[in-house]
Amino acid sequence: MTKAEPLRTIPALYRILWRVSDPGRISLPEPLEYLPLRAGPFRLAMGLKDLRLDDWIEIDRHYPEQLALKRRLFDERREEVFAALPGSETASREVLDLLIEHLCCRFPDWFERRDRTLTNRITAETWATDASPLHPLELASRLVQEDLCLMQRRQDRYVLSAACVCFPSRWTLAEKMGRPLRGIHEPVPGYELTLATPADRFFEVITPDRPAWRLNWTIHEQPDLFQPTAPVPPLEILTPENAGERLWFRVERQTLRRLPASGDILFTIRTYVSRVAEVARDAKTAAQLAESLGHWPEEVVGYKGGRWLDAALNWLRAQAQKKQDANAEQGPSV
Ligand code: HEM
Repeated sequence: MTKAEPLRTIPALYRILWRVSDPGRISLPEPLEYLPLRAGPFRLAMGLKDLRLDDWIEIDRHYPEQLALKRRLFDERREEVFAALPGSETASREVLDLLIEHLCCRFPDWFERRDRTLTNRITAETWATDASPLHPLELASRLVQEDLCLMQRRQDRYVLSAACVCFPSRWTLAEKMGRPLRGIHEPVPGYELTLATPADRFFEVITPDRPAWRLNWTIHEQPDLFQPTAPVPPLEILTPENAGERLWFRVERQTLRRLPASGDILFTIRTYVSRVAEVARDAKTAAQLAESLGHWPEEVVGYKGGRWLDAALNWLRAQAQKKQDANAEQGPSV
């Protein structure tokens, strides 16, 4: 893998910081709740839906802390969270321009472009957009909660050519850079058989005016957003009593759009993490989650590191029953 830039931090000259407003007074929305559970047997699915461009980027009240975490990772572990192959600079610049345009139009209270600077009122940062020494994809990543992956056509297939991934779910850029979709997804059970052909085909036909989005979900033993590897056992002992509090439901909202000028494809990943007990707070959701997990084939359980599975199933089933009993006791609402 070739890195475009050496490890470094940002020269203060270019990162002009001043308070444009009191960030404490900016009120940001609650995170959206995604619950991509399906009834019936396990099925690996493309699950692509049309994306309204207005909804491309999602900003919520975790923005300040997640952007602070990104800043720390860029400063301290840059080699792990940023990589760019030669030839990805122009398309990365296109990503940055599109993103700045989008943020200023969609969230004018929080982002403003004037002359050649961009002001982020949430973090009270101002960026020199044309003169920044940062790689354009890194600057783009420092503006949003999303992770950003650029897929470029090399010979006859799309490969991962530049990426800022601060919130990986047990994978590393080092193992994925320069690889095509099939190679990136090698560890995913069933991908080659079920998704590889439709996904490759989708990359051929996606158009700039018809972006798409999809959801992935899993369960982790730790809530960390930056989670390049699975935790090494032993962890805390999981039991059917404590599993709801100790396990975390992790959803990735992913978007795909073709960049109009370069024709390359931008893949974004927005990660949401909630306690299982919070997600399964009602009987119906607890039962649905138990049903979905109960249908996972063995190889999927292995891939997802599901040594927590039995404890989770027991907790969810008990929770569904408890909530159902409580509802029955209360009687029908009038
Ligand atoms: C049509 C597009 C895509 C589909 C349908 C798709 C589907 C999937 C699925 C089903 C998984 C398994 C997730 C799980 O069970 O937890 C996965 C994992 C993954 N996907 Fe995708 N994906 C797509 C595009 C991409 C792109 C463009 C990238 C570029 C970076 C990517 C990177 C990954 C990675 C790194 C993993 C984890 C693989 C591992 O465990 O090593 N995906 N994807």
